[in-house]
Formats: sequence, structure tokens, C-alpha cells
Amino acid sequence: MSGIPHDHYEPKSGIEKWLHSRLPVVGLLYDTLMIPTPKNLNWMWIWGIVLTFCLVLQIITGIILAMHYTPHVDMAFASIEHIMRNVNGGHMMRYVHMNGASLFFVAVYAHIFRGLYYGSYKAPREVTWIIGMLIYLCMMGTAFMGYVLPWGQMSFHGTAVITGLFGAIPGIGEAIQTWLLGASAVGQPALNRFFSLHYLLPFVIAGLVVVHIWAFHSTGNNNPTGVDVRKDSKAVAEKDTLPFWPYFVIKDVFALAVIMLIFWAIVGFMPNYLGHPDNYIEANALVTPAHIVPEWYFLPFYAILRAFTADVWAVQLVSFVTGGIINAKFFGVLAMFGAIAVLALAPWLDTSSVRSGRYRPMFKWWFVLLVIDFFVLMWVGARPAEFPYDWISLIASAYWFAYFLIILPLLGVIEKPEAQPATIEADFDAHYGAKAETPAE
Ligand code: HEM
Repeated sequence: MSGIPHDHYEPKSGIEKWLHSRLPVVGLLYDTLMIPTPKNLNWMWIWGIVLTFCLVLQIITGIILAMHYTPHVDMAFASIEHIMRNVNGGHMMRYVHMNGASLFFVAVYAHIFRGLYYGSYKAPREVTWIIGMLIYLCMMGTAFMGYVLPWGQMSFHGTAVITGLFGAIPGIGEAIQTWLLGASAVGQPALNRFFSLHYLLPFVIAGLVVVHIWAFHSTGNNNPTGVDVRKDSKAVAEKDTLPFWPYFVIKDVFALAVIMLIFWAIVGFMPNYLGHPDNYIEANALVTPAHIVPEWYFLPFYAILRAFTADVWAVQLVSFVTGGIINAKFFGVLAMFGAIAVLALAPWLDTSSVRSGRYRPMFKWWFVLLVIDFFVLMWVGARPAEFPYDWISLIASAYWFAYFLIILPLLGVIEKPEAQPATIEADFDAHYGAKAETPAE
């Protein structure tokens, strides 16, 4: 499976040989678990396992919640209260699922920014990256539709705002919006289909995760140096790598245990910290909340959506050139999807021949600024759309696009990278000393 030379599963007993010649599933598991993994991976390589854990956790808790939930506009809100008060363990199940969604997004953002810093998106891992972006889109869809299910005020009015965005598409917008909602407004048809899709999408994500893992197992993992594993022979490859089992499994399980301590403390002591109090008020189409705020993980892109108002000269220019077809609202929608599109295109926008940000003196600072920018967008996305927040969101949105469309392509040309270690082994020895090279001994 991997391009790195290593031992493969050899069936020994009769029954193993029998099964292997019919369905080599043990071989597949063996090769997956024993895959040679760069031995210098740091703590930023734990997030993939945390994400896998989150997916399983969300599916299990979600299935149990669905056993007691009723997707009907007159009963959905009450059925959540029923889960919280009457169902055995229901209180915990719901809070784990609710906060599990947040942990999922914390992990995915850490995973994405890790990839951006260490150049994990670059050749030959573009397909891993694109599959990752598809997973991310499905995660956003799943989270959005899940938030509708409790049928609280934020569920209802948030759905109206977000599906209303599609209404901004010239000509076909209204038809798309009606098609999405199954009616001209948020109501029973929307609740039914969102429940159905919210149940389905995690399994689509699970399928994509298998392809994602297949993709990076085919190329081999990146690592903090960005330098490739030597593939000359098995003996040489073994100087750069360790088998995933047991070394990285132990490391990942330890990291997961630490994260679980924090997670359970939040679930137990402050389960509504990240939620909005208005969602404990049953949906009412006639009462609109003062500020409609999406969940925290949507805020950066929500800020970009709102940043481009009719006062912005670029919006006015585009509106003029297109004869008003691209108005401020549609511009905002395009900007929001564009912000995700430029992220997906990072493999082709980054022109540097050096993979890891560690050896890129200029890139480092622009990257730090991107991380800060992301948090600023998150913060400003929850503020009212008025001065000075409108200005802040405009500047922060502009930087997001500038990073991907101008800075990344340009840096590859003007930056003088620092020397990279010749091998992963050399980097490992420099950090841990040559003696630590064979921890199994
Ligand atoms: C359910 C969501 C996801 C799961 C379960 C998942 C799982 C994994 C795992 C287990 C790894 C290898 C170990 C590690 O790097 O931690 C990995 C690597 C990778 N992932 Fe993901 N991932 C997910 C989402 C994403 C997203 C949204 C992106 C970015 C768009 C992405 C991009 C990558 C890349 C580029 C690698 C190769 C990294 C390297 O070895 O440096 N993944 N993923």
C-alpha cells in the first residue's frame, strides 16, 4: 500500500492462509497498523486520531439521541427536553453530542492549520488535501443541519438566514432556496429533510475518511521537516521511520486522554458554555432574536459573508460592471464560498519548493498573521455589523484572500529558504540525540 519499503503480512497457520487467499482483510489491517511513520512527528500529528475518535463518538451518541428524538415542529423542542429529563443518561448523551461537535471542529481547525504550516497539502499530497476539504464541507453541512433539530429560536432563525443566502443567487436563487427547504419558508419539510441528511452525512464522512487515509498511506505521512522518507531500501527507510503500532498509537492515545480530561470537564461543568441561550426558547417565526449568531465554528466564514456590504467600493465596482447581477448580498455569498475555495486551492497557490514552514523565514510570519486573522474573524463574526466591527471584518477578510492569492504565490519566488536537514533521521538525532534512535532496544 505504501511507497515506503516495509514488511508485509505473511499468513502462517492454515486458517490464516485460507482466509488470506479469499479476503486479505488481516493483511490490510496489518499493513495499516504497521505502516512506517516518520519518527520525528510532533504533537500536531495527533489531530487525525482525535478527529476519527470524534466521528465515532458523534455517530454513537447521535444514533442513541435519534431513538428518542421526534422530527416534528410541534414536538422536536419538547423531545429534546424529554431526552434531557426522562431518558436514562439522555442528559449526558445530549451534552456529549453537542460539545462533541465543538471538539470535532477544534480538531479539524488544528489539523488544517498544521497542514498549512508544514506544507502537508503540497505534492504529492494534494488528493489527501482535497478529500480533507470535502470532509470539512460535509462536516459544516452536518453541523448546520444538526443545529436545526432542537427547534429553538437560533435553530429556526439561523436556518432562515443561511438558506436565505441561496436566495441571493440571481435568477435561480429563490427556486434553490425553496428546493432546499421543501417549502417557501422554514417549517416541517425542512425539519424532516435536515434530520434525514444529518443522520446520513456522518456516514458519507466516514467513507471519505477511509479514502483520506488511503491517500496519505499511499504517499506516506508528511513530517515537521517536510523532507521525504528515504526509500532506497527497507533498512534505510527504517532509519527514518517507526511502525505506527505501537509507537504512534501510544502517543495518540495519551494525547486523546489529556484532551478527554478537558472535554469531560466541559461536558460535566459547563456544557452550555459554547451554546446560545436563545436556543432554549422554542422556535417562533414571529419573534426574531436581536442578534442571530451561528455556532462559533462558522463565525470566521460568517464574518467574511457580512464583511462585503454595499458601502465597499469593490462591491460597488463589481455590481456596476455586472449590471447589478452581483449585488452586495450575492457578493458576500461568493466571498464566503471563495474563502473556502482558496483554502482548497492552497496546493496550487503555494509556489515554494520547500514544504515545511520551519525553513521558510518569511512565510512563518505571514502564517502567524493568518492564524491571528482567523481568530479575529471568529471574534468579529459574533459582533453586530456596525462600526468598528464592519471595518475590522473587512480588513481581516481581505487578509484571508491576500494570504492565499498574493502572499503564498509570491513568497515562493522572493523568499530565500533556510537549509533543511538532509534526512528525517538527522532531524530526529538533532532533537533527541543519536542514542534514542532505536527506542525498542
Ligand atoms: C473527519 C475528518 C478527518 C479525519 C478523521 C482525518 C484523519 C487524518 C489522519 C488520521 C491523518 C494522519 C495523521 C495526522 O496527520 O494526524 C490525516 C492526515 C492528513 N489530513 Fe486529515 N482528517 C480529517 C480531515 C481533514 C481535513 C478537513 C483536511 C484539510 C483540508 C485534512 C488534511 C490532511 C492532510 C493534508 C494530511 C496528511 C498530513 C501529513 O501527514 O502531514 N484532513 N488525516
